[in-house]
Amino acid sequence: MGRTSHKVRNPKNKPDALLEGPLNYYLELAQEEKQGRPQITQLPDNSWLYVEPIYAQPMCLACHGSNIDSKVKTVIDEKYPDDEAFGFEDGDFRGMFWMKFKEDFGEDES
Ligand code: HEC
Repeated sequence: MGRTSHKVRNPKNKPDALLEGPLNYYLELAQEEKQGRPQITQLPDNSWLYVEPIYAQPMCLACHGSNIDSKVKTVIDEKYPDDEAFGFEDGDFRGMFWMKFKEDFGEDES
């Protein structure tokens, strides 16, 4: 479970091969100025992947916008020297929430 993005602040949140597919799908929608919806997919090992797109809201721009307060910016740059997660605008596709889980939905009791 976590958050990922095409532009991460924390490099630990970079997408792995599994997350790149849905991330690119939401990015393509965003290029057409469309918002995506959550999705759930069954993986080859029968576990499930839930993904939900995240869109920037005005309050997010204080830390992810183009005009970040210099004191905030200093702290961000100290903690996240490889920060890419700025320059967003209200409504921009910001990233994706994801969750992987195993669930048999009660059908396989054996
Ligand atoms: C007070 C500053 C602040 C605000 C406000 C803020 N963020 Fe962040 N955001 C951060 C920091 C710091 C991280 C890195 C967290 C970590 O180390 O995992 C982050 C990480 C993220 C990530 C994970 C991917 C990455 O870049 O590492 C997403 C997605 C995200 N923020 C979206 C949002 C959204 C959407 C909002 C508004 C609802 C928001 N943030 C508001 C500071 C902020």
